Amino acid sequence: MKLPVIADKSPAKVEVKAGQKYFWCSCGLSQKQPFCDGSHKEYKDGEGKPLMKSVAFEVKEDGFVYFCNCKKSKNGVLCDGSHNSL
Ligand code: FES
Repeated sequence: MKLPVIADKSPAKVEVKAGQKYFWCSCGLSQKQPFCDGSHKEYKDGEGKPLMKSVAFEVKEDGFVYFCNCKKSKNGVLCDGSHNSL
């Protein structure tokens, strides 16, 4: 399986709280999109290390963010509109 996989072709609008840490799913396999559920640990390289890992994300102010679900954003965990060209 080639990672990352597309979890969804639209972003996830999530209410976030200042100071709270979020762990974004970068592999697309999590059942708790857009967040990590540890599914990436099933896929390892020749040395037994996971091919991918979650990405920690934190905000300074309460509000809403659009997390990337297609896993193609060039803006890290946040949607940059790349899903529109899939
Ligand atoms: S959902 Fe990935 S760029 Fe928008």
